[in-house]
Amino acid sequence: MKLFRNAKSSASGFALAALLSVSVGFLEATPAVAKPPAKAQPAVLTASAIAVADEYSADAAEQIFKEGGNAVDAAVAIAFTLAVTYPEAGNIGGGGFMTLYVDGKPYFLDYRERAPLAATKNMYLDDKGEVIKGMSLYGYRAVGVPGTVDGMWQAQRRFGKLNWKQVLAPAIHYARDGFQVSEQLQQRRDDAAKEFAGKTNFDTYFGNLKQGVNFKQPDLAAVLQRISDQGAKDFYSGKTAGLIAESMRGHGLITRADLQQYKAVWRQPIQADWKGYRVYTAPPPSSGGIGLVQLLKMKADRAADFKDVPLNSPQYIHLIAEIEKRVFADRAQYLGDPDFYKVPVAQLTDDAYIAKRASEVNPETPSDTKSVQPGLGTSMPEKAETTHFSVVDKWGNAVSNTYTVNGYFGSGVVADRTGIVLNDEMDDFSAKPGVANMFGVVGSDANSIEPKKRPLSSMSPTILTKDGKVSLVIGTPGGSRIFTSIFQVINNIYDFDMPLPQAVGAMRFHHQLLPPNTIFWEPYQPIDGELAKQVEAKGYTLKAQNFNGDIQAIKINGNTPEAAADPRGRGVTRIIQ
Ligand code: GLY
Repeated sequence: MKLFRNAKSSASGFALAALLSVSVGFLEATPAVAKPPAKAQPAVLTASAIAVADEYSADAAEQIFKEGGNAVDAAVAIAFTLAVTYPEAGNIGGGGFMTLYVDGKPYFLDYRERAPLAATKNMYLDDKGEVIKGMSLYGYRAVGVPGTVDGMWQAQRRFGKLNWKQVLAPAIHYARDGFQVSEQLQQRRDDAAKEFAGKTNFDTYFGNLKQGVNFKQPDLAAVLQRISDQGAKDFYSGKTAGLIAESMRGHGLITRADLQQYKAVWRQPIQADWKGYRVYTAPPPSSGGIGLVQLLKMKADRAADFKDVPLNSPQYIHLIAEIEKRVFADRAQYLGDPDFYKVPVAQLTDDAYIAKRASEVNPETPSDTKSVQPGLGTSMPEKAETTHFSVVDKWGNAVSNTYTVNGYFGSGVVADRTGIVLNDEMDDFSAKPGVANMFGVVGSDANSIEPKKRPLSSMSPTILTKDGKVSLVIGTPGGSRIFTSIFQVINNIYDFDMPLPQAVGAMRFHHQLLPPNTIFWEPYQPIDGELAKQVEAKGYTLKAQNFNGDIQAIKINGNTPEAAADPRGRGVTRIIQ
C-alpha cells in the first residue's frame, strides 16, 4: 500500500526527518529526545484500528502504528495532519475534547478555546442591546484563544510512546510537500469563500485550493516545524504566539498574554452505566455528554413505550423527540463552563431525576413546548462544523477525539504568515440569553461571555466499555446534532442489532425543543413520502437540514476491531496489524 501521498519523501522519510531535526532552545520540554522504550506490552486485540475524516490522516496514523506508537500517538498525528489536509475543521487554531481509555482507566482532556482576557458579556450587542448579526461568526472578534496545540502536547506527553517529532512529521510533510485536494474540500472552500467575501483574508490563503491541485502550505509547515522543534511553547509564547498576536492587533482581542495563559484541563469524564456498558463521555463545558446519558437513560426508562415500535417509524420519531425536548430544556438552562458556573452534573445525570423527566414524556402527542421550556428560538442556518476521529490500539487503549474551529474554516481569518485558520468559537457563548446561536440553540447566564471562560459545546467524544474493555469508540461533528446523532447510532447498534456500517449510515433526525415541534431531517436519508405524512399528522413540522454528520466509529467484537466511517463524509477506516 502507498502510505504517503503526493510526497517526494517516503514513509520512512517522515521518521528520518523527525530524527534528524535537532531541538534547539527549549530544554524544558526536550521534545526531540525520544522517550525511553516502554516495557513490551502484550497485545489484547488482533489489530489496531482507526476511523478518521480523510485518507491522509489515515496514512499518518498507520505510519505511527508501524513505528510502534500507541492510540494516543496516532491520535495526535491524526489531529495535526487534519489541520493541514482537512482545513475546514481539522485545526491548530481551534479546540476540542479528547476522551481516552488508557491501561484500563478513563481520562478526559478539555482543550476547548477560551474567551480572551478583554472579552465582555455584551461584546456582540449594539447600543440597543440587540445582537449584532455575524459579529461572533466572522472576523477577528469571533476568535477564541485556541487550545488544540496544548491539548495535543499534554495528551502525547502524558500517554504517548513515541517522540514528539515523530507525531508531527506527517503533518509537516503534507503542509510542506502538499496534498491532493478533494472535490468535497473544494466545495466547502467555495461555500466558505462566498460567506467570508469582503469580511476576512480567507482567500489570500485558500484562493488556490482547487480539486486535483497539490496544495502546499509553506507558512503552516514552518509553524508545525517550530512546534515540532520547540513543543507547545512556540504556539503559546514563542514566534507563533507573536505572529498570532500581531495579526490580531487593531482587529481582534487576542494578545500574547491570552496565549501565554492558555492551559488545557484534565477533567473527570461523565460516566454512566447503561445496559451492562460503562459510558465515558464529555463533561461540561460540553453539554453533549450529559445530553447523551440523559437520552440513553430516558429511552431505557420508557422501554415499555418503545416495545415493538419499529426503528424510525412515526411513533419512534415522536418518542425520541419527546425525550430530546426535555434534554434540550436542561441544556439551555443549566450548562456552561464548570470553572465559572456550578453545573449540577450529578443531579442532571442522576437516575431518579432522569426517571422523573422520562415520566413527563407524552407517548401520544407532542408535549406543549412552553410547558417544557419557555423561550423563542430560530432555526440553525445551514452551516457546518467540527470533525471527529476514533482510534484503538492493539493494547486495548482508545482515543475518541472531537475538535473544531466551529463553522467550516472558523472565523475565516487566517493569522498572517502562519497559515493558521482561526476559529469562531465565540459564537458558542450565548451572546444574549434566549437568543439562538448558529446551531439554533439558546443559552442562559451559565453560558454568558466572561474572560477566560470556555463556551458551551455539544462535542461528545464517547467510549463504551464492557467488563473494563473497550467496546465502542464513537463521535461526530454536527453542533447540537452531535449527541442526538451518537444516541441514534448507539440505539441502532445495541437496541436494533444493526451491523456497524448500517448503524452509521442509517437515517438520523433531530429535535431540540426550539423551534417548537420541529423535526429536522437530513437529505442523505430523508423523511419523506408516507413517513413524512404520518409524522406531520402527529403534530410535527418537518425541516430538511444538512447536519454535517460524519460519525467515525470503532466497535470491538470479541478481540477484533471493526471500524466504520460515515458514508456522508470523506472518512476512511483502517485495521492495522
Ligand atoms: N462548535 C461546535 C461545538 O462545540 O459543539
